[in-house]
Amino acid sequence: MATAASSDGISHQLFVSIKLECPRLGELGLVPYLFGSHPVAGSWDPSKALPMEQEAASVWGLSCVVPSHHETLDFKFLLKPKVNISQCIFEEGPDRSLSCGRNEVEIRNALFKFNDETGVVECKTLVETEILSPFDLAASWKAHQEHLQPRVHGAHNDIMNAASESRAKNGFASGLELDLEKYIVPTPNMGSGVVYAANLTENPRSLLHTGISSNNDTTTGNLHNSIKGDTSLNHYASSKKLADGRNAPPHEEQRAVFVDRGVGSPKFARPTNENISMSNIKFDSKAKGMPAAEGAVAAGAVADQMYGPKEDRKLAIVLVGLPARGKTFTAAKLTRYLRWLGHETKHFNVGKYRRLKHGINQTAEFYRGDNMEGVEARNEVAALAMEDMLSWMQEGGQVGIFDATNSTRSRRNMLMKMAEGKCKIIFLETICNDQHVLERNMRLKVQQSPDYAEQTDFEAGVRDFKERLAYYEKVYEPVEEGSYVKMIDMVSGGGGQLQINNISGYLPGRIVFFLVNCHLTPRPILLTRHGESLDNVRGRIGGDSSLSEVGLLYSRKLASFIEKRLASERTASIWTSTLQRSILTAHPIIGFPKIQWRALDEINAGICDGMTYDEVKKNKPEEYESRGKDKLRYRYPRGESYLDVIQRLEPVIIELERQRAPVVVISHQAVLRALYAYFADRPLEELPNIEIPLHTVIEIQMGVAGVQEKRYKLMDAVNSTAGI
Ligand code: F6P
Repeated sequence: MATAASSDGISHQLFVSIKLECPRLGELGLVPYLFGSHPVAGSWDPSKALPMEQEAASVWGLSCVVPSHHETLDFKFLLKPKVNISQCIFEEGPDRSLSCGRNEVEIRNALFKFNDETGVVECKTLVETEILSPFDLAASWKAHQEHLQPRVHGAHNDIMNAASESRAKNGFASGLELDLEKYIVPTPNMGSGVVYAANLTENPRSLLHTGISSNNDTTTGNLHNSIKGDTSLNHYASSKKLADGRNAPPHEEQRAVFVDRGVGSPKFARPTNENISMSNIKFDSKAKGMPAAEGAVAAGAVADQMYGPKEDRKLAIVLVGLPARGKTFTAAKLTRYLRWLGHETKHFNVGKYRRLKHGINQTAEFYRGDNMEGVEARNEVAALAMEDMLSWMQEGGQVGIFDATNSTRSRRNMLMKMAEGKCKIIFLETICNDQHVLERNMRLKVQQSPDYAEQTDFEAGVRDFKERLAYYEKVYEPVEEGSYVKMIDMVSGGGGQLQINNISGYLPGRIVFFLVNCHLTPRPILLTRHGESLDNVRGRIGGDSSLSEVGLLYSRKLASFIEKRLASERTASIWTSTLQRSILTAHPIIGFPKIQWRALDEINAGICDGMTYDEVKKNKPEEYESRGKDKLRYRYPRGESYLDVIQRLEPVIIELERQRAPVVVISHQAVLRALYAYFADRPLEELPNIEIPLHTVIEIQMGVAGVQEKRYKLMDAVNSTAGI
């Protein structure tokens, strides 16, 4: 076999993988062997033939790297009985010859003739050759050494030794380490830097509308206004005025009703009730007033609206806890999850209101429990945030996440009074007794919080923050009232515990289930589409085709990449869909358990499955048009919508949150868009058009600092099917 020399002068080598499949061999007590030209198959001496290794009941395999100084490889199969290996039955026909210098897959039958009643035995064989760069070779070699029983017996060591010798001779030894960084490409949507979660919360509209802000507020530049009048707790609790001076809408809030749209997605529509004033209503989603939800979420919402008390239709999750207990982090995570499921959710951070109204440079004194001015100022901004949240709920918002310490009973009473008859409150208390975690959180807080943006002495910042914390500790009253969830030491390695009291209903139940599965153990999640499939090449959607040659190459590159990227991990798992192209892409990955999920199958294109986009346009113009108008909600007849896909992916998200080891997800375009939108916190309306290129690994890093992303482009994507 000839050495495959690339244009860069590096002598590449051939990786040869040979498979033989025949259910009869087992029954007949036969084992397949390979013999042929030196050195791969030993020699033409049948007694030196190489046994193939049994990989499944009726499948045998053998793989090897062909050293560069061999010109040709001719070989044949032969069968030997398990009990008497001196007997041989040779493959009929001419010798097989491996072609050199290119990637090839040959599927051919091997015939064996017996001189007894057995007659002819026919075996399917697959011979695959792939040109390997030193990069690929290093990875596959290491994999052999570390994970595998040698797959090539006898000559294997010689071959591997010869390969390594030749690498050393060519000066590749040092280049065998995969330099993963060189595959990194820019991330289109999400910076790799961490954004302080509180900065991403709702803008304090009451303060911004009224022009109230501190003199060192950097958001609006307004000077020295302040709220006049009574700032006592009762004032806020009984106020019927909204913070921006508007009266609360006199009518019952908007109610969604379910309408059946036949083939398409079930949707919500607002009743055409003349009494309902639409003038001051704002919606986030493009399709106004329609919760972007499907399946269980929609059904749950309908049930809650029909049977639950009126105020239960709106839910306020009120965070409780001392500073540095991960409240903002938890609030942000919950917001992301609920939004992804299609619930109108907003995160209100009282710290943001405080900074806007009182500036960023308040010292610890501001938080002293007996500093009445400070206490009032803090209650005041909390009340403003609550008023904003309630107004937003009256305008159609569903779940408000109210993020503040709320660490005294009187503060919580104030909030409960304000919410009376308007929404249901669940307190979510975060408790942490682990000093290590606290120390880390405190330092993170001083690093990231705008409160310390102007503090140049980091340690002085930490001291000030600890003083603030001590003041809070003095007056802290754990939650014992109302409906609550307590997350106790959930972030320390031990797993922690969740205590719940008086929780009922669809959404609260889901929230609890989500929280119980969340943790902060840092771990990567690697997302990739399958390698290019034959249907990708033909431009056909859906189907269950296998991989193209390019796709097969990607599967090998991916295996090398994963082996390197996860080399230091104790464990990891590979998740695929149940479709061929995903399973085949995972095939060369070794050493990690593989799990097939039906939920990871590609969006079901129903009656359009197997068509090209042009064929859909031509043969099903009305479907093409409907999808183009609302790709998120459009459901293929007898198939799925993106909202359907999100629904079925919920257990996958919960499991990804729960896993502590890295996970590699090898799935499909639409499914990965949905998963990615969750991690990258992208709005549902954008989800169906998120770019998920072929042959690129998206690494999501989950941990204390939130979610970060890196992209590795392992190969060019020759084909990329343009969606409608
Ligand atoms: O084209 C590849 C593919 O995975 C199809 O199987 C699937 O129907 C499609 O992408 C999903 O993308 P879009 O929603 O943009 O059509």
